[in-house]
Amino acid sequence: MRFTVAIDGPAAAGKGTISRAVAERFGLAHLDTGLLYRATGRRVMAGEDPVAAARALRPADLEADGLRSPEVAQAASRIAALPAVRAALVAFQRDFARREGGAVLDGRDIGTVICPRAEVKLFVTARADIRARRRFDELCAGGYEGAYEQVLADVEARDMRDRERADAPLRPARDAVAIDTSELDIEAAVARAVAEVDAALGRR
Ligand code: DC
Repeated sequence: MRFTVAIDGPAAAGKGTISRAVAERFGLAHLDTGLLYRATGRRVMAGEDPVAAARALRPADLEADGLRSPEVAQAASRIAALPAVRAALVAFQRDFARREGGAVLDGRDIGTVICPRAEVKLFVTARADIRARRRFDELCAGGYEGAYEQVLADVEARDMRDRERADAPLRPARDAVAIDTSELDIEAAVARAVAEVDAALGRR
């Protein structure tokens, strides 16, 4: 079965949680495409050229420590604006999406650029203050000692950069279903996504 679920949205809106739950529920493989940009950003922080770093990326890089840090997130967002970096990462993502058995991919441009023919497209959003609070709590659980205001500023800077870049900006595909998780708990948000996937499977 070839079946692709594309989940896009800004930082910390709940894409990751929803993607993992949908993948598990329907037995689909899952790719967090942000990790490709984070792993590239991390290599660039260590002195590599961005395009060379993106081309040299190996699956093991996606499991490196430290990819979740705010510094790596900012580096990822910066190198993600470079068209040659994005181009170097397209084939890996499309191959993943085409795998037998189906796949969930989450990121910023999955429904618009990577998998424009995905059977399900979701655009997951939430208010910036709520997203920053969730990310702050997550970071604190991992030992972060910075301020909430710093996390909010980081999230907003990254969103603006991701939305305003010329190549593959963050935006919903025309046929994406929007899920605003500002007022939803995890179970309710996952249930909305599962219902969309069920409906699409029913149409096949
Ligand atoms: O989803 P994330 O927060 O891990 O993504 C980190 C950065 O990578 C994000 O700010 C922009 C970039 N990114 C992208 O440009 N396109 C994607 N499909 C996924 C991430």
